[in-house]
Amino acid sequence: MSTPLFQPFVIGKMSLANRIVMAPMTRCRADGARVPKPIIAEHYAQRAAAGLIVTEATAIAADAVGVLNTPGIWSEAQVAGWRVVTEAVHAKGGKIFCQLWHCGRSSHSSMLPEGKLPVSASAIAISNDHVWTAKGKVPYETPRALDASEIPGIVKQYGEAAKNAMAAGFDGVELHSANGYLIDQFLQSKTNQRTDAYGGTVEKRFRLFREVIEAIVAVWGADRVGARLSPNGVYNDMGSPDFREQFLYAAKELNSYPLAYLHVMDGLGFGFHKLGEALTLRDFRGVFKRPLMGNCGYTREAGDAAIAAGDADLVAYGRPYIMNPDLVERFAANVPLAESADMSKWYTNGPEGYIDYPTYK
Ligand code: PHB
Repeated sequence: MSTPLFQPFVIGKMSLANRIVMAPMTRCRADGARVPKPIIAEHYAQRAAAGLIVTEATAIAADAVGVLNTPGIWSEAQVAGWRVVTEAVHAKGGKIFCQLWHCGRSSHSSMLPEGKLPVSASAIAISNDHVWTAKGKVPYETPRALDASEIPGIVKQYGEAAKNAMAAGFDGVELHSANGYLIDQFLQSKTNQRTDAYGGTVEKRFRLFREVIEAIVAVWGADRVGARLSPNGVYNDMGSPDFREQFLYAAKELNSYPLAYLHVMDGLGFGFHKLGEALTLRDFRGVFKRPLMGNCGYTREAGDAAIAAGDADLVAYGRPYIMNPDLVERFAANVPLAESADMSKWYTNGPEGYIDYPTYK
């Protein structure tokens, strides 16, 4: 197969076998201490033919968590658990980045150390949804606005998590700066109403993002660090009227590092705020000079077309990867994808609906 998706791609000293990326997806298969269970290694190893795998969102610290049964990367046991995962993927010739996550306001006090309130840029709650706790679904709490004096501590946690990812054998890390989690909460005017050095202007709202990228790049070198943006998204009650200006500024500033890639959820399948014309990969291409990864709702044909048109270098596939462990082979052979499946098993803590999807052969 020689369509654009199957061309190799080089980032720094890392060669990806193809342009097909497995997108990060929460699947809730960690144990009670947020250590990845061995089935996580099997799951990613089954999908190691992807040019690159980006793990599910992985909490950088005990106070960064927000979704039950999702993994972390702050403890020794978690690093040991992830080492099993990276070794399994590398044994199959794959490459894997760890996605670094702080949930901010989308968490709940029942999950946080000492039952403390979630934190955010400003004390503004998610108003249109509920959070799953161990006791079931409850409304989101109003978070506590972080004091500027606490921010160096958060930046340090990202740096420590980046070091842990290296100790765990990952090939790099992706900063989760999308989907209404902490970095996005600081980036967007909808959730950041601060009047200090971390809010009030497009530049200041980007400041936490910049400090965190610098901390992570200091550990890994820029060509092993990606970042993810969701400029058009509504997930976690996001969407800001000045989104075009804010996100294009962020992308332009990220040129200074220079990152492995920018991962943009340009597709609208995860929800669209409709506050203006959706930002496209082509818009980002105009300001961002490093590799661009598209995501959300791409078919094989659309992925090939985006690369052929020069809009994308890489294309990340999420949902198709749940039921098609051999997505690369299916795309290569042009065989139909598995589609109908029992979604009720997608987020359970066990092997069903996780490592039991057949390959087409
Ligand atoms: C989720 O756990 O629901 C989740 C996590 C990360 C995302 C989006 C959704 O980027």
